[in-house]
Amino acid sequence: MDPRHPFHPQTSSVSEGFDPRLSVMAVRPPIYPVSTYAFATAEQAAHAFEVALGKLPARPGEDVGLIYSRLNHPNAEMFEDALRAAEKGAKAAAAFTSGMSAIATTLLSLARPGQVVLYQRPVYGGTDHFLRHMLPEWQVEAVPVEGGDWAAALARHGDRVAVVYVETPANPTLQMIDLQAVAAEVRRRVPGRRVPIVVDNTFLGPVFQSPLRHGADVCLYSATKFLGGHSDVLAGALTSSDPELVGRIKATRAFLGTICEPFTAWMLQRSMATLWLRMVKQSKNATRLVDVLKAHPAVAVVHHPSLLTGDQARIYQQQCTAPGSIVSLELHGGRAAAFRFLNALQLVRLAVSLGGVESLACHPRTTTASEMSEEDLKAGGVTEGLVRLSIGVEWWRDLAADLRRALDAARG
Ligand SMILES: Cc1ncc(COP(=O)(O)O)c(C=O)c1O
Repeated sequence: MDPRHPFHPQTSSVSEGFDPRLSVMAVRPPIYPVSTYAFATAEQAAHAFEVALGKLPARPGEDVGLIYSRLNHPNAEMFEDALRAAEKGAKAAAAFTSGMSAIATTLLSLARPGQVVLYQRPVYGGTDHFLRHMLPEWQVEAVPVEGGDWAAALARHGDRVAVVYVETPANPTLQMIDLQAVAAEVRRRVPGRRVPIVVDNTFLGPVFQSPLRHGADVCLYSATKFLGGHSDVLAGALTSSDPELVGRIKATRAFLGTICEPFTAWMLQRSMATLWLRMVKQSKNATRLVDVLKAHPAVAVVHHPSLLTGDQARIYQQQCTAPGSIVSLELHGGRAAAFRFLNALQLVRLAVSLGGVESLACHPRTTTASEMSEEDLKAGGVTEGLVRLSIGVEWWRDLAADLRRALDAARG
């Protein structure tokens, strides 16, 4: 690529990360199911370890080669290069075994005993569990920012804040958080010390939201969702504008063993080539279906970024380019109506997870958010009648017919 004319990320996600000359001129990457790599000499092995363990810097332009697949391997590197190229503002990326291992490895790399992770609710249920129940076992306190008042939270905990953590749009109510405002408040209240801002960008992906361009330092993904895109891999990933920060997280990854294995990384890279096609089609489908859902008498409220108003709409305009394909709806009649709806679906499958080519539906209150406290459920708007839909790439009229039929059944 000519650095004066960089490709659009849509092009880079197809072409970046793989050089056919390194693999018998194959046009797509092979899989390297290999655990350990040979060195030409004992001196080279010793040098590679010194660099890998941070005892010596790599020489400019030097490639010290591969050592062992828990540290690094060709398929992870190729996927990481493709993701870095797809993410606006990214200079480095890292692949993981799952979204949760990306989140846990990142927070364990950045927070130390006695420090605080400030976060805004709601966050994904697994993240919530890790923050509230596991981090305290390492003497790291997770403090929710009440009412989105970052100024007050930073004034109170600024000295001890190690990381700021947000999810936007948030799971499952799609609440948007103003990343530029959070970043400005962090820089103002904690001057002279860098507090990394970590954003879970799983819902909109690098296609529709670029957190690194809006003040975030690390952008996290459950790659199980849109990046993988076919509900056939479990994986995680992150990108960052700061290669040094990613180096620290990768060092933790090497010792926890949370790098994804070669086949998973290969699947992810294969999926990167269709990321734009899938996400754009899914977002268009969802936007059409929102009108169908809004018009049905069984539905009390529809949550989708295309419907935001007021300040939430302002944030959406500022930091997103399309609304994406996650839609939540609140049904009249609470849990009973929600269950009738889910049980009547025929095309849309009843399953947790999201972002795959097939449409899925779930009841967050009794599944993905079932471990959340009453207070958090209330604060996050996770009601008994709330159903979350992940819209796939099917013909939208077939989806509309299935949803209408199930909504009729929801009325009892
Ligand atoms: C927003 C979000 N972040 C993180 C995760 C965790 O990802 P994984 O299941 O790949 O560990 C999920 C999973 O549902 C999620 O929805």
